[in-house]
Amino acid sequence: MNGMTRRTFLSSTPALGSVGALPLAGGCASTAGSTMPASGADAGPIAMSLSVNRTPHALSLDPRTTLLDALREHIGLTGTKKGCDQGQCGACTVHLDGRRVLSCLTLAASVGPREVTTIEGLAPAPDALHPMQQAFIDHDAFQCGYCTPGQIMSAVACVSEGHARSAAEIREYMSGNICRCAAYPNIVAAIEQGRAGMPGT
Ligand code: FES
Ligand code: FES
Repeated sequence: MNGMTRRTFLSSTPALGSVGALPLAGGCASTAGSTMPASGADAGPIAMSLSVNRTPHALSLDPRTTLLDALREHIGLTGTKKGCDQGQCGACTVHLDGRRVLSCLTLAASVGPREVTTIEGLAPAPDALHPMQQAFIDHDAFQCGYCTPGQIMSAVACVSEGHARSAAEIREYMSGNICRCAAYPNIVAAIEQGRAGMPGT
């Protein structure tokens, strides 16, 4: 259009330049949905309490902070891994009241009183391993290990859900956990052993 680029058009029209930023702000509010107030981007930190591995943490966080970043950057629990940060790899899987969730898609502010369990808190005692952790070691169910915390958290939940009754079912219900090293056969074998070690499942 008359040789004018979008950059020169916006920079030569101050009023439109500022309007041009508005859809971005509106898009953020809309993406956040009902979990964030419309003014969330400007609201500043909010106080919240998270119970993680049976330990309470009083935090003051930007309302947009994900549970994953709260765990890693603010509480110092780096066992939960950030792979894609957009819900596609499963590396960030933790438990909320025993149910598996992707912590990169969960706002810390939305957790409320629910108990967060991470890989650091899965074992029954500090000097013990959860049967699923032991099974992953026994079956050498990892190579680089980056996906392993998420795999183990997801595997425990998979067994608890009753979705680990066969190798085929395990593959189906663990399909949200990606292993870049392709240790899948060993992971399935580990989950079958871990299942046997989980009482009541
Ligand atoms: S980091 Fe959450 S799904 Fe990949
Ligand atoms: S062990 Fe490397 S990504 Fe799974």
